[in-house]
Amino acid sequence: MRGPPFPLHLLHLHLHLHLHLLPVAAALAFAGAEVAKVPAIYVFGDSTADVGNNNYLPGSNAKANFPHNGVDFPFSRPTGRFSNGYNGIDFLAIHMGFRRSPPPFLSLANKTNHQISRGLKGVNFASGGSGILDSTGSTITMTKQIQYFSTIRSNIMAQIASEPTYRLLSKSIFLISSGGNDIFAYFTENSSPNATEKVRFIGALVTKYENHLKALYVLGARKFGIVDVPPIGCCPYPRSLNPTGGCLDILNELSVAFNKAVKLLMHRLSSTMKGMKYSVGSSYAVVSGIIRNPAALGYKEIKTACCGAGKFNGESGCTPNATYCSERHLYLFWDLLHPTHATSKLAGVAIYYGSQQFASPVNFRQLVVDEIRVYQGQSLTLSSVPVRKKMTAFLLILLSVILSRQSIVAYSAALYAFGDSTTDVGNNNFLPGAPKANFLPYGIDYPGRIPTGRFTNGFNSVDYPKPWGLRRALHRSSLSPAACR
Ligand SMILES: *[C@@H]1O[C@H](CO)[C@@H](O)[C@H](O)[C@H]1NC(C)=O
Ligand SMILES: *[C@@H]1O[C@H](CO)[C@@H](O)[C@H](O)[C@H]1NC(C)=O
Ligand SMILES: *[C@@H]1O[C@H](CO)[C@@H](O)[C@H](O)[C@H]1NC(C)=O
Repeated sequence: MRGPPFPLHLLHLHLHLHLHLLPVAAALAFAGAEVAKVPAIYVFGDSTADVGNNNYLPGSNAKANFPHNGVDFPFSRPTGRFSNGYNGIDFLAIHMGFRRSPPPFLSLANKTNHQISRGLKGVNFASGGSGILDSTGSTITMTKQIQYFSTIRSNIMAQIASEPTYRLLSKSIFLISSGGNDIFAYFTENSSPNATEKVRFIGALVTKYENHLKALYVLGARKFGIVDVPPIGCCPYPRSLNPTGGCLDILNELSVAFNKAVKLLMHRLSSTMKGMKYSVGSSYAVVSGIIRNPAALGYKEIKTACCGAGKFNGESGCTPNATYCSERHLYLFWDLLHPTHATSKLAGVAIYYGSQQFASPVNFRQLVVDEIRVYQGQSLTLSSVPVRKKMTAFLLILLSVILSRQSIVAYSAALYAFGDSTTDVGNNNFLPGAPKANFLPYGIDYPGRIPTGRFTNGFNSVDYPKPWGLRRALHRSSLSPAACR
């Protein structure tokens, strides 16, 4: 299929928490700009990762450089991203200390900053519509994307010599988000493959992926951040094809099989390619968690796209004459195949900071900081998350709980283990340098007008028996069947 493949990002919890966060935001205003944690990011893949390469392709219809795309991007600018704002790669780049994704390869010619135009800070080669197989789509194939990278590498070498280039590349992160379009394309040819055919297709796909990864390794890539394929059968477009309006099971089944095979592939490659490190981030886990319990995670609409036309707004793309929703942060999907900015944000946090449910064998943060130790079963510790990201981190914990279908008890434990300023009742008073609230006017409505350290005028949410009314929602989730299958 020709259209953009789907993307994935995470969640954005929109409970009543933003009120409590104001003091945190104020504390952060002093934090200053972040410093990049890796020298550069090189990005490969499809529309889940494209930040504008397709703008430069004459005649392609896999484009998004027109409204209403970008309506929530700075200055409401349509950049070519298949999103109302940022995509998942932007959020991963932000967590790594960059402003957003590196620029599209095809825009470099006109960049005036030499570090950027020469690719020293990273380049995004991704192209909407492309796949792992060269036969998928009619945009910039993965093979071509890697050739473009090779050109950039030669330019860098000409600038800074070979040794520093090897060092630069070996410390940089190579992000790849692809595979969804190959599955769509296969489905278009064969909508009900038998078991043998499925195995053969997945095998061919993963073999080709292996070749791409080896090519990048030979060119100096060492650290791979792979983003898997989400439950694409639940996108508005496949739903619009299904008379029942449900997810198209076969697409999800192929996604699951592909994701499993990719994990095995990466594990195998890491033992044969010296110095290679990787993490596989699971957009599948994030999106299926949202679908399983949207309300707990702050979503109102998980079937219909915010922008588009037809059934589920899934029958045509987000064009200037399409209608679009106003409450975009409450939607899982932006258009027929792509997530919203809010979803991408949650996915970014899950993959960067999350437990093994969301990224394994290590998360992207561990890949970046290059820790030797592989943390087994480590879950998110809020001490590892910058204060301003803690709200989203809290959502992530909810998501974990939803996915593991644990009960209220587990949820309560999560609250105690992972609370932040919305739940703090005074711990930070004892931490030098931590954001504090143990002074008036905090606590002005607390019994005795005492500033306790709660980030509020009176009680905070954990002081009440039913924090945010989530218990019932979580309880329900533990009983409901997997929504994606
Ligand atoms: C670069 O800028 C020139 C002049 O503004 C424009 O014609 C050209 O299309 C641009 N090229 C790229 C790759 O952006
Ligand atoms: C699956 O389909 C192929 C045709 O594409 C056929 O040759 C094969 O026998 C089928 N296998 C099974 C197990 O049905
Ligand atoms: C919207 O625009 C597209 C092309 O931009 C066109 O194909 C389509 O027919 C238009 N739809 C409506 C409802 O005007």
